[in-house]
Amino acid sequence: MIEQEEYKLANKTFLITGAHGCIGAWTVKRLLEADASVVRFDRSPDARRLRLIMNEEEIARAELVTGDITEAEALPPVIEKFAVTHIIHLAGLQVPSCRADPRAGAMVNVIGTINVFEAVRQAEGRINNVVYASSAAVYGLIEEERPVTEIEAARPATHYGAFKQCNEDNARVYYLDHGLSSVGLRPLTVYGVGRDFGLTSDPTKAMKAAVVGRPFHIRFGGRTDFNYVADTADAFIRAAMSDLTGAHVFNLHGETVHIADVVAEIERNRPSARGNITHEDAPLPIPSEMDGQAVRAALGELPRTPFAQGVRATIDKFAELLSAGRLDTGDLDD
Ligand SMILES: NC(=O)c1ccc[n+]([C@@H]2O[C@H](COP(=O)([O-])OP(=O)(O)OC[C@H]3O[C@@H](n4cnc5c(N)ncnc54)[C@H](O)[C@@H]3O)[C@@H](O)[C@H]2O)c1
Repeated sequence: MIEQEEYKLANKTFLITGAHGCIGAWTVKRLLEADASVVRFDRSPDARRLRLIMNEEEIARAELVTGDITEAEALPPVIEKFAVTHIIHLAGLQVPSCRADPRAGAMVNVIGTINVFEAVRQAEGRINNVVYASSAAVYGLIEEERPVTEIEAARPATHYGAFKQCNEDNARVYYLDHGLSSVGLRPLTVYGVGRDFGLTSDPTKAMKAAVVGRPFHIRFGGRTDFNYVADTADAFIRAAMSDLTGAHVFNLHGETVHIADVVAEIERNRPSARGNITHEDAPLPIPSEMDGQAVRAALGELPRTPFAQGVRATIDKFAELLSAGRLDTGDLDD
C-alpha cells in the first residue's frame, strides 16, 4: 500500500486538460479523493485509463467536456460554466506523434498551451495560476552522469522538447506582459498503471508483459529518472494550490535507476519473467537525472514513492486487472 498525502479540496473546481491521459487519470483520481470538483477536458471521450484505477461511479463525479485544445474558443465557456478555480494543463502529443507530424505537434503542444493561457487571462483573476506539463525533453543530451538543474535546459533534441521549451518561454512572457503566474513541471520517465504510449512507456509495458507472461524489449538503456505516476499527479496538484507568483519551471526528480536494474526489479516480482525482458543499450537523448531541489524549496516535500514500491504496486494492479479480465494488452503490440 503506497501512502499518499491527503488533501482537503472541497469548494475548489479543477479543470484538467488531457484528463483521459495517463497523468490526467491519476490527477482526476487524486482530486476526487480530496473532494474537489473536477472537470475533465479531453479530445477523446474514452475514459479507459480512468477505468483502470477508478470505478464508474467515481469517474461520473468528474464532469466530462470533450473538446480540442487547439481551438481558441474551447476553454473559456467551460471555465465560465463550471466556475473553474484551478487549471492543470496536461493535454499534449508525445515525442513519436510530434516527430511524425510536427505541424500537429506544434498546434496541440504550443498553440494549445497558448489557448490555456489566453483562457485564464480572460477569467480575470478567478484562476490564480496556470499549471502545465513541460518535460525533461527540454534538455538535450548531457554526456556527464550528474543531476541537472533547471537553468541548464537547452538544445532539445526533439520537436517535442522544442515545443515544451517554447511553452516555458511563452509562460515567462505571459508573466512579463500580463502578470499571469504559472508553474511548469518537467517529469522524465513517468511509470505506473495507465502509461501505455511513447518511448518512455516501455518500462511500464515490460511490467505488464511480465504479468501476462510475454517477452518484451525495452527500446532504450542506461539510467533514467523515474517518476511514479501518482507522485507526478500530486506534484501538479500541489503546484496548482501554491501561491507562487512569477513564471516558474521545475524539474521533477523521482529515482534514477538503470534499465538493467528495472528488469531485475520486475524479475524479483515475477520470477517467471526471467530472461523474457530485454533492453537496448543506448540511453535516451536526455539527462539521466533531474536535480529536484528547486521544486521542493518552492512547494515543500513532495511524495516520492521508492522505485521498488512503485513497481510492486504497478505489477500488483496489472495482475488484479488480469484476473478480472480487464487488462488491455494492445499497447504491447505497438
Ligand atoms: N508521461 C511522461 O513520462 C511525461 C514526461 C514528461 C512530460 N509529460 C507531459 O505530461 C502531459 C501528460 O502526459 P501523459 O503521459 O498523461 O500523456 P498521454 O498521451 O497519456 O495523454 C495526453 C492526453 O491529451 C489528450 N489530447 C491530445 N491532443 C488533444 C487536443 N488537441 N485537445 C484535447 N486533448 C488532447 C489525449 O487525448 C490524451 O488523453 C503531456 O503534456 C506530456 O507531454 C509526460
